[in-house]
Amino acid sequence: MPRLGFGTGRIGDDSDIDGYGEVVASALKIGYRHIDTAWKYFTEKAVGDAIRASGVPRAEIFLTTKVSHEYLRGDDFARKVDESLANLKLDYVDLLLVHWPSPDQVPLAETMTALAQAKRQGKTRHIGVANFNIAMLEEAIRLCPEPIENLQVEYHPYLDQTKVLAAVRRLNLPMTAYCPLGRGKLLSDPVVAEIARAKGKTIAQVVLRWHLQQPNVIPIPRSSNPTRQAENFNVFDFTLSDDEMKRLHALARPDGRIAKPAGRSPDWD
Ligand SMILES: NC(=O)c1ccc[n+]([C@@H]2O[C@H](COP(=O)([O-])OP(=O)(O)OC[C@H]3O[C@@H](n4cnc5c(N)ncnc54)[C@H](OP(=O)(O)O)[C@@H]3O)[C@@H](O)[C@H]2O)c1
Repeated sequence: MPRLGFGTGRIGDDSDIDGYGEVVASALKIGYRHIDTAWKYFTEKAVGDAIRASGVPRAEIFLTTKVSHEYLRGDDFARKVDESLANLKLDYVDLLLVHWPSPDQVPLAETMTALAQAKRQGKTRHIGVANFNIAMLEEAIRLCPEPIENLQVEYHPYLDQTKVLAAVRRLNLPMTAYCPLGRGKLLSDPVVAEIARAKGKTIAQVVLRWHLQQPNVIPIPRSSNPTRQAENFNVFDFTLSDDEMKRLHALARPDGRIAKPAGRSPDWD
């Protein structure tokens, strides 16, 4: 799984999706080889089209998609996996995630059986879960007939994820960090700005570097702008000091979480 990914999440419906293929095409051209999509984002079709048009061999791309929380019953789940592959016009994804835990008391064992089945049928190479708390993650690992290999959760300097990070390291799982730029909120932070000035880097680069210097953490920033996509990709030629890392960790605040939909958020750790 490449250490840095590209997010394609959008909020809304499928009305303004025309032209989104160009966004993904430029990300692939810049060099991103890890793309994060979901059935819920309406971007699967654009992502699949851009991958096929890019000329990049399919095996060089790590592609993630997700089954939405409304479809966690076994039959629904299988149908949605097929629908995602049809949207993508691809035979398989590299990582298939449960997008959110069930708000409707669908037994986790039923969903985990369906998730494992998708892997056994070759529809995904790896499986995992998103937005699960530690107890749910451990339960998923216990119930799933195939290994759970990824947890995707929100993570940026405003959100303390110490407990979740300790858990994924103990379980030896990569943790994909969504909203790595705090959906843009971090970009006006004075402390990050000061570190960025001292380093001769941008605020986004400092934030993403902070993620990359933490074991197991895989940020997936989104940008629709090719210049900012390139900026976010060029984060491998500098290092933050221990002191700078500490200053960024110290920005965590109790109200730092962005994604907390009512009715389906678990008790976060
Ligand atoms: N599993 C889940 O439940 C879940 C939830 C949320 C997100 N995700 C995934 O995580 C991905 C990333 O999270 P996100 O999209 O919510 O937020 P994000 O990546 O933290 O922030 C994206 C925002 O930052 C701006 N931006 C990006 N790079 C920038 C730069 N260098 N300078 C200035 N502004 C910049 C973008 O605007 P421009 O486009 O104008 O550059 C956009 O408004 C999503 O796309 C999705 O794939 C998953």
